[in-house]
Amino acid sequence: MCGIIGYTGKSHAEKIMLDALELLEYRGYDSAGIALLHQGGTEILKCTGRVKDLRNLCALKKPEGFCGIGHTRWATHGGVCDANAHPHRFGRITLIHNGIIENYRELTEKYALEGHLRSETDSEVVAAVVEHFYAGDPYSAIRRTVLKLKGTFALAIMFDDQPGKIYAVRNVSPIVAALTGDGAILSSDVAAIVPFTTDYFVVPEFHVACLKPDGIELYDLSGDQAKIDWLKVDWDVSRSGKGGYPFYMEKEIMEQPEVIRETIQPRIRDGRPDFSQEQIPDEILSGCRRICVIACGTAMHAGLVGKSLIQAMIGIHVDVVMASEFMYNDPVVDKNTLVIAISQSGETIDTLEALKFARKCGSPSISIVNVKGASIARASEYVIYTNAGPEIAVASTKAYTTQLAVLYLLTARMAMARGLWSDEKLSDFMKELQRVPEVLERVLETKEEIHRLSGTILNARDVFMIGRGLDYSILLEGSLKLKEVSYIHSEAHASGELKHGTIALITEDTPVIAVVTQEKLKSKELSNIREVQSRGARVLLLIKENETLDEGEKWSCVYRLPKMEDPFMVMPASVVLQLIAYYVSLDKGLDVDKPRNLAKVVTVE
Ligand code: AGP
Repeated sequence: MCGIIGYTGKSHAEKIMLDALELLEYRGYDSAGIALLHQGGTEILKCTGRVKDLRNLCALKKPEGFCGIGHTRWATHGGVCDANAHPHRFGRITLIHNGIIENYRELTEKYALEGHLRSETDSEVVAAVVEHFYAGDPYSAIRRTVLKLKGTFALAIMFDDQPGKIYAVRNVSPIVAALTGDGAILSSDVAAIVPFTTDYFVVPEFHVACLKPDGIELYDLSGDQAKIDWLKVDWDVSRSGKGGYPFYMEKEIMEQPEVIRETIQPRIRDGRPDFSQEQIPDEILSGCRRICVIACGTAMHAGLVGKSLIQAMIGIHVDVVMASEFMYNDPVVDKNTLVIAISQSGETIDTLEALKFARKCGSPSISIVNVKGASIARASEYVIYTNAGPEIAVASTKAYTTQLAVLYLLTARMAMARGLWSDEKLSDFMKELQRVPEVLERVLETKEEIHRLSGTILNARDVFMIGRGLDYSILLEGSLKLKEVSYIHSEAHASGELKHGTIALITEDTPVIAVVTQEKLKSKELSNIREVQSRGARVLLLIKENETLDEGEKWSCVYRLPKMEDPFMVMPASVVLQLIAYYVSLDKGLDVDKPRNLAKVVTVE
């Protein structure tokens, strides 16, 4: 959470920082600010609101300089106000911070800061501690400060008497750095670096990077120079913009056929699933007695689909655990438990901490991550990258379906490794998986029809979504999507559970979205739909194109999904639900890509 940027070089830093903060805004958008270090001193401009508000402020004040740091905030410590916006300044130190300093109260007391701080943030306390230790040697002050901090941090620091230099240090929260051609840049993720270069490196934890106009130096905490491990962004850089769509969410929904192709094709050899590129040994897939998926939000919903697939097709037990709850339920994981961590950003701290815990228990681990080189990828034994490209909209769409694509591949490889399927069965499964992109193209061609259907819930206060088995898993994700971008209260319910309480809430004012894609569950699901219809609910039904419906019944709203084999129906149904959420948000005039209170990368527990 929070976007951080720093630039030093020959260009005007304020322009570079404002452009970069716009690209990083999806990490948090409560307030924004920049600081410029120049001969005349340090100048800070910050305000509550979006980067566009900061841009207006800058247009008024016309700050100038060639070395600066900037921040876009997702509030943790202290409310949303100008004083709490970053950068923070104490004495000769100006700093921006992403993360949480857990012991900021003790530090406030220890260094007698009470009454000297201007904000309510833990970040300003860090600036004060750096100032306390600063006696002309930035490395020493940073080193001594870092040893006092408990918590997570990505810090970019400028010292008044160190012109042209930006220092960076981190624990858990990410910082990447690169050379721009005319200077050096750091950022919380590669999104802000891609306009300059595709070569970058991740600042290692507890190392100090010093950015200067003519290069970057890296030191470990004992003061020894460290080697920089350069990486290459392998995104198609042209994917970074909105590509003519009004919002990233629509663009990312529309990209799904292509990115699913790019995720599965490199992992199919001779028609079979292949993870040799990832060097995943078959023994890890054949030897485990159970699987534990750890993830949050949408990624966890992908895990639920994976659970249904693996349990049904491989016959081993799969737990899907909310990463944020993992540690608090005395997790039972051991060397016989394969842990699969799923994360788009690869930085979600709950998932990262749960993964580290599981590894300490001896569990083999695979992570499914979208962002190359992210913390979760580095913390796991094996990593499978989804090739979804940059996902900028806060609501996750293409990351989810590419995570599903990887889970289908993993299921098939596991079946192979365990000798469970005949060649024919494996070949049928893989052929069906390869049909997914073209099936999604068919769904996307009908987006105007879906837009029209979304009108049936536009003015609803509450929406219920019902289904069984895999359909229920899809609806959990559909419901999350709807509430996060449209602010409509929505609940997904296993339809058989309705009669155990929730049906009391069903009236003619509560539209119901029902998904019926699983042959073996169809008649039960249709009975549950009749139960809500008879309480007055209007039902929007998503069902396979070939299913016959009783003409005598009141099917006012039906969307026909292109037919796939049942385990794959998740794919077209999910895309329809994504589009419904998108159009409701759009038609309500909301900021689709940046829903209130949310941030794309969740690096606080
Ligand atoms: C979904 O639309 C949300 N953005 C959110 O639930 C997200 O999936 C969750 O925070 C996990 O993020 P990750 O995939 O980056 O770990």
